[in-house]
Amino acid sequence: MLKVEEQQPVTFSSALIEKCGEIVKRYPGGKHKSALLPILHEVQAELGWLSPDAMDKVASFLTIQPIEVYEVASFYSMYFLKPQGKFVLEVCRTGPCCLVGAEKLMDHLEQRLGVKEGVVTPDGLFSWRGVECLAACGYGPVLQIGPEYTFYENLNEQKVDQLIQDLRDK
Ligand code: FES
Repeated sequence: MLKVEEQQPVTFSSALIEKCGEIVKRYPGGKHKSALLPILHEVQAELGWLSPDAMDKVASFLTIQPIEVYEVASFYSMYFLKPQGKFVLEVCRTGPCCLVGAEKLMDHLEQRLGVKEGVVTPDGLFSWRGVECLAACGYGPVLQIGPEYTFYENLNEQKVDQLIQDLRDK
């Protein structure tokens, strides 16, 4: 259940609305629903996550039912349905990466950042979570950071500490 403050109405910037309009034009007439995924990416890039109100606004923009947006947004793991840190560290938790220390790395992240999986650090900078195979199985442990989905491979605790520091210094 979302907290009340997470249900605040959101406003799309004029740049975002313009971008969404451009995306819709890529598709043939009557196929505007096909623009849903790229539009959700744009909305998330601007707002940081997809709140119920944001998804309702996307539905209204595309003249589709809100449930059609919810079912897509909740299916794909790249969409965030609750607030996230500025940097979301996504650690592969699938078998091959676990064999080379992914679970230990997630324990280290939890300890280092002081927050459990899916929780935002008090400074708003970080959240982390385990995700399924990132298709870099020979280079584990692996993590990615969106929205550019930069990969960090062959990780260990020291490299993760350095990465966190580098992100803090940005
Ligand atoms: Fe980790 Fe494939 S198992 S990238």
